[in-house]
Amino acid sequence: MTVLDTRTLTSTDQAAPARAARARHYLMCAPQYFEVTYAINPWMNTSVPVDVERAKLQWEVLRNTYLSLGHRVELIEPLVGQPDMVFAANGGLVVGGRAYGARFRFPERGAEGVAYAEWLRHSGLSFVEPVETNEGEGDFLTLRSMILAGTGFRTSLAAHIEAANVLDRPVVSLELVDPRFYHLDTAIAVLDDGNGTAPVEIAYFPGAFSRHSRRTLRDLFPHAIIVSEKDACVLGLNAVSDGHHVILPSAATGFAEQLRERGYTPVPVDLTEFLKSGGSVKCCTMELHR
Ligand code: ARG
Repeated sequence: MTVLDTRTLTSTDQAAPARAARARHYLMCAPQYFEVTYAINPWMNTSVPVDVERAKLQWEVLRNTYLSLGHRVELIEPLVGQPDMVFAANGGLVVGGRAYGARFRFPERGAEGVAYAEWLRHSGLSFVEPVETNEGEGDFLTLRSMILAGTGFRTSLAAHIEAANVLDRPVVSLELVDPRFYHLDTAIAVLDDGNGTAPVEIAYFPGAFSRHSRRTLRDLFPHAIIVSEKDACVLGLNAVSDGHHVILPSAATGFAEQLRERGYTPVPVDLTEFLKSGGSVKCCTMELHR
């Protein structure tokens, strides 16, 4: 007798590999004090008002999306006068019980580094104070066997070396050249970090990188999803994946289709208020990597 696998019967795309979600641990910060009062990237325009009520709703939907997918979400208390603190990804880099603190490039965000450091210190992680300028998971993307690190606008090359020493992991430096994609997490999305059974998989927009970094990416990830400029320009790559579900900005419809073809389930969310500050899904989320 043959036992039929119902998953195969209901599957619409026989070629797509099976995807498995892994429960994640995230840190977020409510957008109570979110606004655009200074401009430190080309998306920010202080004369365009932010609808804070709408921002709060959009952020709640993102948080509830994580919770409904079974992920753990912790919260850090927002600080008055720190409008960008909602972008939790920038607060540090946590890998394997160690936390490498952030040291922001611009003084406007300096106080956030202190607040995130305090949270990380009190969460039982072994915390290392950074010497070099770095904006946490904004510029550091963690994979099973290496950390991808961005430089060019915010995080310094020296911080890549510091992170490698602190976290005892190989770090691959990538140079960002287009100011619209000033953090690595605006130009690369980690779809599978390789910690489960599937191989590492990323998506990226080549135009954000220098020629030699494009070459590095091509060599390391020959099967990566190449995302269009159109989707990159709605910060479509600023996405969060659990290995199966990929939470991404709803305007990135082409990327969502590419994800479906590879067997992922895209989960579109509307974070347009945060786009006014140059942020989206990933920016609002720090993953505490085990
Ligand atoms: N306005 C913030 C800044 O320019 C946005 C940060 C977005 N965060 C990120 N992880 N890309 O610093």
